[in-house]
Amino acid sequence: MAGGAPTIVPTETDMKIVCIEDLREAGSKSMPIRAREFYNSGSTDQQTITENSAVFAKYWLRPRVLVDVSAADPSTSVWGRRIKFPLGISPAGLQAMAHPDGELATSRAAAEKGINMGISSFSNYKLADVINVGRTVGPINYAIQLYTMKNRGLQERIIREAEAQGCKAILLTADSPVLGVRYNEHRNDFRTPPGLDFPILEWKNEEVRGRTHEAGFIGFNDDAHSWAREIPWLRARTNMEIWIKGVLTGEDTQLAREYGCDGIVVSNHGGRQLDGVPATLDALPECVEAAAGKIRIHVDGGFRRGQDIFKALALGAECCWVGRPAIWGLAYDGQNGVEKMIDILYDEFRRYIVALSVSDSRAFCIPTLSALVIDKQFLTSTRLAIHSLFPIATMDVKQELAGEIDLVTQSILLASSNHDLKALKDLLRDGSANVQDAETGFTPLHAAIAACEDDEELNDQNNMNGKVLDPEEEAAVETVKLLLQNGAIWNDLDKNNETPGCIARRLGLNTLYETMVDAGVRAELLFSKLDEYQPLEDGEDEDEDEDEQQDTQKRDGTEEPTTEPLAEKQHQSEPSIPAAHSDQKDDVTIQKIIDDVSLDNKTYLRSALTFTEDKLLDESANAVMMDWETTIMNRHAEILLPVEGLRALNVGHGMGIVDTAIQSHSPKEHHIIEAHPQVLQQMRDRGWFDKPGVVVHEGRWQDIVPQLVEQGVLFDGIYYDTFAEDYKALRELFSEHVIGLLDPVGGKDGEGGKFSFYNGLGADRQICYDVYTKVCASARTP
Ligand SMILES: Cc1cc2nc3c(=O)[nH]c(=O)nc-3n(C[C@H](O)[C@H](O)[C@H](O)COP(=O)(O)O)c2cc1C
Repeated sequence: MAGGAPTIVPTETDMKIVCIEDLREAGSKSMPIRAREFYNSGSTDQQTITENSAVFAKYWLRPRVLVDVSAADPSTSVWGRRIKFPLGISPAGLQAMAHPDGELATSRAAAEKGINMGISSFSNYKLADVINVGRTVGPINYAIQLYTMKNRGLQERIIREAEAQGCKAILLTADSPVLGVRYNEHRNDFRTPPGLDFPILEWKNEEVRGRTHEAGFIGFNDDAHSWAREIPWLRARTNMEIWIKGVLTGEDTQLAREYGCDGIVVSNHGGRQLDGVPATLDALPECVEAAAGKIRIHVDGGFRRGQDIFKALALGAECCWVGRPAIWGLAYDGQNGVEKMIDILYDEFRRYIVALSVSDSRAFCIPTLSALVIDKQFLTSTRLAIHSLFPIATMDVKQELAGEIDLVTQSILLASSNHDLKALKDLLRDGSANVQDAETGFTPLHAAIAACEDDEELNDQNNMNGKVLDPEEEAAVETVKLLLQNGAIWNDLDKNNETPGCIARRLGLNTLYETMVDAGVRAELLFSKLDEYQPLEDGEDEDEDEDEQQDTQKRDGTEEPTTEPLAEKQHQSEPSIPAAHSDQKDDVTIQKIIDDVSLDNKTYLRSALTFTEDKLLDESANAVMMDWETTIMNRHAEILLPVEGLRALNVGHGMGIVDTAIQSHSPKEHHIIEAHPQVLQQMRDRGWFDKPGVVVHEGRWQDIVPQLVEQGVLFDGIYYDTFAEDYKALRELFSEHVIGLLDPVGGKDGEGGKFSFYNGLGADRQICYDVYTKVCASARTP
């Protein structure tokens, strides 16, 4: 049986409550007409409130069959916490009119059932009380609903209190410059019942009852609000997330993005404000499109069935909220009634994801992945057929239906971020572990690691104790390993210029970081081994041809620049070209190398250099050497030449920093190998050729060093710091030549000569540094 039995077991007393419509009927009956109409009605002609629910019938679902859904998981993550399923309780005021426990009961029910709650400014209970009763039941996140208020002092007090109580977000209600025209309130002369205060707004009952609801609202709400006035004002006062509630258009979604809001709730206030605006489900797609995955999208309005939630998620929302269903639950049976409401929706939603063969609701919760496929055959009819993205692996998706979205790529990224090993294995059978999301630049490795970001518990745990491995991180590690086994590249960059390892490090995920470092070391070692590999030629002729060709290249000096991976370059400035995939180097790579002289030693040697006060730049403005390196160089010289009168060899003069440091130790002999003509000229100008004991060798070390070995010249200390050479060159010098140049009984006390080098391999980020430090260490023994 897929994932357990239905959760609803009706008791004798509530046999009749099997759906939200039953709850509406029962809850409404238990309220006097004034209250009932206040809660249940919309504004003016009730068009929008009616359409909010009716709209769902426009969409049909396309179920898939025979997919293993035994592990279906409807949970999702909102504000850093996993909730039972993608539902929250919208902020709705005056709940104590429906049941004396009002917001306290709603809060307890939400906490009991593992979902979040928005608390209205018009709550009849204090914020602290509402939150505390919920927290005693279980972990729960709250958002404070806020209006744009005339009284900024009060607004600021509400924000302070919300922060003090640990609210995660502000829901700034933006659709209410005035109250909607609610005929029922006028006909019934609706007023807040006796005994009910609005403590968050600091209003006492006597004050409130003296005026109509509308008059009270106009008195405190500021219609001179604007994006430019409200959002920066809030940002300056709070670290809580800022969400705009009441957005219905792409234009406003775009503004929310531009003003740096964290999310929007696509909402029309449950049809209580402006009548004649579209149903939220119809407004959702244009908002999703405008959000482009940059801000989060939730939605409320008219959700009455589990399948309604499913449809909104398939259309791109991450989470849905309900207002009136909670009120009906309260009116029906207080906390129990609200719990019943949540149970009904959970059970229906779960059934849908199982019956439609969606193994994980998180499939819909990532904006870039919440794409739906619109079957074009249905576009001509009045109904749209939709189905969710998942599970693509078993789906025969026609390309023309896929539109602009690369579904396989998105599925691989999705399975990676969900740490869904089973789906990922299936997908990787035909797909690649090296796909990349066009918008974020995420590879599956990025997705698998970044997915841990929302997990507050995991991050807390990591902060407290780096050694404890949360099950979520464990799952992420397994996913990362699977991807690496399938050839995922360890050092691809996303649009934020981060490698997967960079993300792991930023999030403090130590095990994942180490996994990525190890992958980097493996890839780089393998790569260097592949470089050593000489394929056997079939015939002698071919050998000769090749030799001849190489000779020609050497003679005329016009050979193409090599295309070594950037990650292996010293002093490199960007690591992105995959080391393990040298076969993937394309024209762009080659052009890049030609454009950037630091990427090839011979190109660099032909390039023009610029000497400034504190740096030496190559033609591509890469820093060959900078004066901040002086401290490091001094230390190297100190270690290599602990006493005066020793013999030193330095490979690569540059700005002369290390050679000056070596000179300060009064060496008996000081050999310098330098190949760049401009540097050599500078050395001449600065008198290096005339210094006693200094021997300058003009040329590349590859040519000079064998001669020195042949001449039997020995040294107490050798230092290596060239530019635009890769790890292979360093390894070659170290393993082939250094042994012949170091005096085995040299050094201060005859302990043997020492070799040292500048570890600038991948110096622009920690993971490259860590990888190359390990790679170098692995080659310690020649
Ligand atoms: C009785 C009632 C009071 C509400 N009070 C507020 C409020 O104080 N602030 C607010 O932003 N939205 C308020 N809303 C709107 C809800 O937050 C939500 O947008 C709406 O109820 C969702 O539609 P639904 O009731 O069809 O689920 C209220 C809604 C109702 C029904």
